Amino acid sequence: MPKAFKNGILILIVAAMIPPTIVARARAVRSAKTRIHFVQDMDNQPKFRAQHANPLFADGRAMRPPVAGTVARGQLDTDEHFHGGIANGAWATTFPAQTPLTLNLVKRGRERFNIFCRPCHGAAGHGDGMINKRAMELVNLAVNGTTWVQPKSLHESQIREQPVGQVFNTITNGVRNMAGYQSQIPVADRWAIVAFVKALQRSQNARVQDVPIDERQSLRRRQGG
Ligand code: HEC
Repeated sequence: MPKAFKNGILILIVAAMIPPTIVARARAVRSAKTRIHFVQDMDNQPKFRAQHANPLFADGRAMRPPVAGTVARGQLDTDEHFHGGIANGAWATTFPAQTPLTLNLVKRGRERFNIFCRPCHGAAGHGDGMINKRAMELVNLAVNGTTWVQPKSLHESQIREQPVGQVFNTITNGVRNMAGYQSQIPVADRWAIVAFVKALQRSQNARVQDVPIDERQSLRRRQGG
């Protein structure tokens, strides 16, 4: 084999190792530069991102608020009972047709209550949740002048007597120092929570008459009476 040919092959082999070496280095080393982007598609184009400024509009915002009075399709929410907790001009005393009172509704409500309400109102609704405990510690230590309004016990008689529509309204719009949960909790779930709150209230103020007759006997036996 001629020497020049041998050398040529050797050079080719060495040259062939250069691209893999560059690729390997690029994978291992961090760089502040943007990567090489051959096919642009529509990845880079002039546009306004959310929350950016745009001098074209008088208010300087790129994001345009909807025209006043706009209602999104399917969000007219004219059902006063379901969306407002109101029936015949007063707080509804019954559950709306969309969320009939079933065991599943109460179970769903228990789950949602434990997520959204329990931190403040406590597992059994006595207003003694973890947030309240922590806040009371801070109040007692007078950390940065902490002030705190204790979550209400859901078993106070005037709260226990509230119609379901009023409890729904409290969850939706809040009450005095408690914020509303309209944006976090969907309507049907708010009704589920109402169902569970009512079950909680009943559980903490139960009478023997609330227990099914055939179970009262075993209840008495357990109480030793
Ligand atoms: C961040 C703490 C906090 C959370 C979470 C919270 N609450 Fe409250 N809640 C309060 C406080 C504080 C009050 C008393 C407000 C006042 O008297 O100013 C209150 C009051 C209430 C009342 C009494 C309303 C009345 O008419 O007096 C009800 C009912 C109630 N909450 C239900 C709920 C339900 C149901 C949830 C869950 C969806 C919930 N709360 C979540 C803090 C909270």
